[in-house]
Amino acid sequence: MKPVILDVDTGLDDACALLLAARHPDLDLKAVTCVGGNVGLNEVVVNTLTVLDAAGRPDVPVGRGAALPLLQPVRAAPHVHGVDGLGDVDWPKSTRTPDSRHAVELLRDVLAEAAESGELITLVPLAPMTNIALLLRTYPEAAEGLREIVFMGGAAGIGNATASAEFNIWTDPEAAAIVLAAAGELGVPVTMYGLDVFYGVPITLDEARGLGGSPSADLARRLIEKRSALYRADAASIGDGGAVCAVIDPEGLTTQPFPLRVELAGSWSRGRTIVDTRDWSGDLTSDPHGASPTVVKVATAVDGRRYADLWL
Ligand code: BDR
Ligand code: CA
Repeated sequence: MKPVILDVDTGLDDACALLLAARHPDLDLKAVTCVGGNVGLNEVVVNTLTVLDAAGRPDVPVGRGAALPLLQPVRAAPHVHGVDGLGDVDWPKSTRTPDSRHAVELLRDVLAEAAESGELITLVPLAPMTNIALLLRTYPEAAEGLREIVFMGGAAGIGNATASAEFNIWTDPEAAAIVLAAAGELGVPVTMYGLDVFYGVPITLDEARGLGGSPSADLARRLIEKRSALYRADAASIGDGGAVCAVIDPEGLTTQPFPLRVELAGSWSRGRTIVDTRDWSGDLTSDPHGASPTVVKVATAVDGRRYADLWL
């Protein structure tokens, strides 16, 4: 089993990812950490506990993390995820409380255990990367417990929050820049599962309506129905769930190594991930910090049918 930690802002599609990570026999879900993003942190924590309850996994520790991005206010997305973040579907909310540790402390503890046991962890950030930036700045030694980072965020093509920027990176660009730089310095491999593939794993309403018979399958069906309705379509992508598919079945994803930077200024491009697809033999423009960009495996294509079947 592959040990994983998810960092989430649950979120309809974070819920799709959580259900898969909690239930798939090839994954060992060690912890889930929460950050403000799609909705406020309180809602994210309740939604995350609710999804884990539905998955029959109350044993998974859930850490409450950063409510706000490092520098700017949080800008939630109720038009995409509903007011409660779970599409306002009629589903009983968890009354459990999260782990007593802050998300950063929970991450540090689980990663320290992993470093000691040698069972290194795949970290899957599916949200603004505030918690991960705080972790790697506060406890850089935590990287010793990491096998790799597979994050949902960014885009080589167009954005969604703005024409340039994808929501997770746009929400906390400084955090994303810190994580990329730290991963480069600490030698942690990174895969970017960005918008170029994010919409490429659709589940049709017919397929969703075939799901049922357990609380997790019932919730999965409701999530797809809700997400389809929000997009006024007869199918909905599992979004963040595709990044978890990529951890389970990397062969379904095509990636290419490219230097990656995050735009921290820009009038209209703040939060853009700049994927340098040039035939790269050295950056000609000087970086204000003198640092080279981190080379990241950028997802360029996904086998949507393969991942849809995996998720179903
Ligand atoms: C990302 O932003 C959120 O709305 C989704 O949960 C996903 O992580 C897509 O831009
Ligand atoms: Ca998310």
